[in-house]
Amino acid sequence: MGKEDNQGEEYLFKIVLIGDSAVGKSNLLSRFSRDEFDTNSKATIGVEFQTQLVEIEGKEVKAQIWDTAGQERFRAVTSAYYRGAFGALIVYDITRSSTFESVKRWLQELNTHCDTAVAQMLVGNKCDLEDIRAVSVEEGKALAEEEGLFFMETSALDATNVDKAFEIVIREIFSNVSRKLLNSDAYKAQLSVNRVSLVNNSDGAQSSSCCSR
Ligand code: GTP
Ligand code: MG
Repeated sequence: MGKEDNQGEEYLFKIVLIGDSAVGKSNLLSRFSRDEFDTNSKATIGVEFQTQLVEIEGKEVKAQIWDTAGQERFRAVTSAYYRGAFGALIVYDITRSSTFESVKRWLQELNTHCDTAVAQMLVGNKCDLEDIRAVSVEEGKALAEEEGLFFMETSALDATNVDKAFEIVIREIFSNVSRKLLNSDAYKAQLSVNRVSLVNNSDGAQSSSCCSR
């Protein structure tokens, strides 16, 4: 996976985005990694990921954030998606109750396929749409407390709390997972188990598509 290009790399965290279709997973990722938002974004097909550099306590941390389709028919092999993830953002849309009701199902899937996700955050996205809110902040907080998750409301559109949400998850992983484990051959093998092709963007960020279907 091009590791030889990354001499000195110390930390690489895999984080997954999950939640129903159209809750804004892909836009949260594009806001965080490229500061971009797409009003007409298409439903994701298969799996994509972006790698973002974050500095924590003077250390360079690479967050490899994976995004897949909320729609069942477009999703890639589930176990490969979750394999080796240390963090997860479970996203719902504050204007659609059905997406909030799905959160428990997504958590079940996460916990069935992944026993390494030490940092999990419930994310109520689209908080810019206060006028048509259908899920209150209190309901979101209560569910997060019940399930032992961090909680944050975000807007990929106006960028509210987007960096913060990812950074909390990344910091939590940083303080929970030992460097020894992250640098182990077993972990690196897990990350590269899917066939992945890396493309360098002009801004130096790495993006990729992988095809594990
Ligand atoms: P799938 O790939 O099908 O699982 O959907 P997704 O969760 O990746 O949703 P996506 O990011 O494609 O966003 C769906 C729609 O919601 C798009 O029209 C976005 O422009 C819109 N959207 C995403 N985030 C926000 C937000 O924070 N506020 C508002 N108002 N719209 C948003
Ligand atoms: Mg998407």
